[in-house]
Amino acid sequence: MISGKAMVCGVIGNPVGHSLSPMMHNFFGTALGLDFVYVPCHVENADVETALKGAYALGFQGLNVTVPHKQRVMPYLAELDEAAKGIGAVNTLVRQEHGYKGYNTDAAGLLQAMEEQDVEIRGRDCLVLGAGGAAKAVSYMLMKERAASVTVLNRTLDKARRLAEEMNLLFGRDAMKAAGLEDWEKLPGEDYLAVQTTSVGMYPQAGHAPIENPAFYERIRMAVDIIYTPAETEFMRLVRKAGGRAMGGLDMLIYQGIIALKLWNPQITVPDDVVRKARSRMEEILKK
Ligand code: ATR
Repeated sequence: MISGKAMVCGVIGNPVGHSLSPMMHNFFGTALGLDFVYVPCHVENADVETALKGAYALGFQGLNVTVPHKQRVMPYLAELDEAAKGIGAVNTLVRQEHGYKGYNTDAAGLLQAMEEQDVEIRGRDCLVLGAGGAAKAVSYMLMKERAASVTVLNRTLDKARRLAEEMNLLFGRDAMKAAGLEDWEKLPGEDYLAVQTTSVGMYPQAGHAPIENPAFYERIRMAVDIIYTPAETEFMRLVRKAGGRAMGGLDMLIYQGIIALKLWNPQITVPDDVVRKARSRMEEILKK
């Protein structure tokens, strides 16, 4: 039930029509009996500042921020949490007395999704494929969780180098390294935890992986692809074919959403059966 006192939240993006967040948050709101509504808001790039002021004036408790506004919102926030500062991008805003505080729940969402699958990060040698915005959030999380090493493999080597330098500086240790995608044969390890963050393999370009040589996959014990369309990417298929474990990006999406929902409603807990139901509802939508 939505009363006159309902908490209003939403997502801003450009475009925003593909976002699963409105369905997911309204599902949680109903399942938990919250007086809560979550709306999609298409915001043009030039209108981000006006949109944030408007949302604040309209009493929005919070917003999610999606592509391409995750950095653009930052100058207009009252405060930033530590992860958002480290990652340099924001995906969740929470209302404070004098404006919105920016958080990044992407990294925490991935961590929780991995913890639910009993994936250990501490002391592991990790690979990150890609060096864009998503790779930064993933690298931040792996470094924070004290991976033994994190090697970024990217088509554009320079971008991988910059990401590695930035994270090494931030965490004060030399655990991050950079390499080109084609340099995988020179990797020293046999037993990696790998996270795929490039757009390669996402619908409508399914059937491709950033590295397609099956020999690469012999070196991967556990892998996460942050893509959730299709449910099994080519990257995941190649990992599984070589005998490794692979998970897709849907759980990361769900947990980053739950973490945001809890930032807006600190009193709630989301029971496992509600998470499972939300997941199968989202899987059904993605199959269409
Ligand atoms: P996001 O915020 O989702 O990470 P992004 O910042 O645009 O998006 O980053 C996209 C990533 O996918 C980059 O690492 C990009 O590689 P480059 O830095 O070389 O551009 C990678 N990527 C995109 N298309 C690719 C392709 N066809 N082959 C290999 N890597 C690709």
